Amino acid sequence: MQALPGFRDFLPDACAARNYIFARWREVARRYCFVEWDGPLLEPTDLYKKKSGAEIIDQLFKFTDKAEREVAMRPELTPTFARVIAAHEREFKKPLKWFSIGQFFRYEKQQRGRLREHFQLNCDIVGEAAPAADIELLALCIDLLRVFGFTEKDFVVRISDREFWTDFLREKDVPPDRWDEVLQVIDKFGRESREKTIEKLGKLANPVLKVLSEGGKSEKLDRLVDGLRDRGLAEFADIDVRIVRGLAYYTGIVFEVFDRAGNLRAIAGGGRYDNLIGLLSNGAISMPAVGFAVGDVVLGELINETPHARGALQRATADDRKIDIYIVIAKEERRADALAQIQQLRDRGYRVDYPLAPMKVARQFQAAEEARAALALLYGDEWPQVKVKNMATGDQRLVPQDRLLAHLQAQPSLSS
Ligand code: HAM
Repeated sequence: MQALPGFRDFLPDACAARNYIFARWREVARRYCFVEWDGPLLEPTDLYKKKSGAEIIDQLFKFTDKAEREVAMRPELTPTFARVIAAHEREFKKPLKWFSIGQFFRYEKQQRGRLREHFQLNCDIVGEAAPAADIELLALCIDLLRVFGFTEKDFVVRISDREFWTDFLREKDVPPDRWDEVLQVIDKFGRESREKTIEKLGKLANPVLKVLSEGGKSEKLDRLVDGLRDRGLAEFADIDVRIVRGLAYYTGIVFEVFDRAGNLRAIAGGGRYDNLIGLLSNGAISMPAVGFAVGDVVLGELINETPHARGALQRATADDRKIDIYIVIAKEERRADALAQIQQLRDRGYRVDYPLAPMKVARQFQAAEEARAALALLYGDEWPQVKVKNMATGDQRLVPQDRLLAHLQAQPSLSS
């Protein structure tokens, strides 16, 4: 039996890499003073029908539960977030800055960088309509990639504005109920054949293709890049009106992050969605919001392809697996004494391992080396003294059992 297509087993190395990514995400989100939250994995299917757009509805893992409710595994967090904010908004001071790390499910076509489950870090700011919030989020998004060792040579944030396109469509007398459909076609530009794009756009094809090839001017976007320039981050961003995003709830600036080489799918994406919370509160409240999510799959690919980022991940995950002490049981009569000691050492927070079954002393030292133990403690003929071996220097000394803890506390090579 294998895992379902598009679902991953996380063996220890993959799990260590995942933990490394999550730890960096948390660290950077906290530097920006975002607080962590989470929502349920299962939601009423209707939540996504409100405003996520046709593409995501098509990709839902959905079923009817035993009480005949139509439910779906969450494909993204934003609708849940808007639902939660609509219900609890009064309990929190604005602007509210929240982040969340979780798993999401989309029945995607199998392709590189797109699976049927993935993890995302979502970061959102609610209650601030000024561009300062957009710039803060863009800076956070950039720092979330810089923390892995990437530079402006490795990735770029492409920033655009949905209002640029809605103004354009208004000018061309396209009725508002067709805007989502046109934006979806623009979103797929480059991924779908040119003929198909032209066919779907009809008489709009020529003017839209002109803008897509020549680019567009927007003072609002220039100001965002200026805001990034103030922070020394302008090199990480480009204005690119081809970005419109596939999700239907965005109302203002939108952005996506790509590898500079252009080999991979989007690493992150987001934008402003000033109407979604209002929509989910049935108009009871109106609350501006802006946010983005970065996914683990494409990020993992980029880390793998970039030697310095891959090296940093490998060093960090190897260090994380190092143990403090390996207990060598040279005489089986000493096993009970050794186990009593092991319990005490673990109570003090040391990472301690030992052979579960009798084993030759040489093999035990080999196990200590493989585990990158800082010290090996040998329980044998010298009892009630314990032989303490520094695994890095080879230095050995006998320490009486009752002075062992004090001796270990004075060892700089131990983590606790
Ligand atoms: P999204 O662009 O659909 O945005 O997803 C964000 C990121 O999640 C993508 O850039 C990609 O890295 C990753 N991702 C999405 N689908 C898959 C997949 N099938 N396999 C692997 N990775 C994937 C959103 O989800 C918005 N809710 C983000 C947001 C938050 N907007 C405002 N706040």
